[in-house]
Amino acid sequence: MTTSALKSKPTKAAVNTGLDASARKEICSELGQVLGDTYMLLVKTHVYHWNVVGPLFIPIHELTEEHYKDLFAATDVLAERIRALGFVTPLSFASMVERADLTEATSAASAEDMVETLVADHEAIVRSVRDIAIKAEKADDFVTHDLLVGRLTFHEKAIWMLRAIVS
Ligand SMILES: [Fe+2]
Repeated sequence: MTTSALKSKPTKAAVNTGLDASARKEICSELGQVLGDTYMLLVKTHVYHWNVVGPLFIPIHELTEEHYKDLFAATDVLAERIRALGFVTPLSFASMVERADLTEATSAASAEDMVETLVADHEAIVRSVRDIAIKAEKADDFVTHDLLVGRLTFHEKAIWMLRAIVS
């Protein structure tokens, strides 16, 4: 391995796949926001998984475990899409979550309040992801569109299941 290879840094790659360069840049910026929101919801879901109490403990504890595993896997898929489109991901956790629209949970909550908060956060992600999916399709970025449709499928199912617990 040469010294220059050791010094190589990820940088904006010259991507020539037929996607418009400015659309690619905008899509990557918006994927960065989805990545931040996904991390924010991942941490909130995990914290609720640990701290939920009461008669709904088991269903919420088990469903949040399914959800944080999916959300963690999704961060990898989203970040790798940004790389494949020729851009670097946010380089710190702080810069990742500063792009997020969602906010952290900072106080104790009842099981019902936890579910309500999670539903609202999943719904907020659905609204922004749908807009970005439409932009990706308009830019002929079918791969990002497909990825985001997968995220919508997960979040909409999560909303249904969370609501069913407290209905
Ligand atoms: Fe656990």
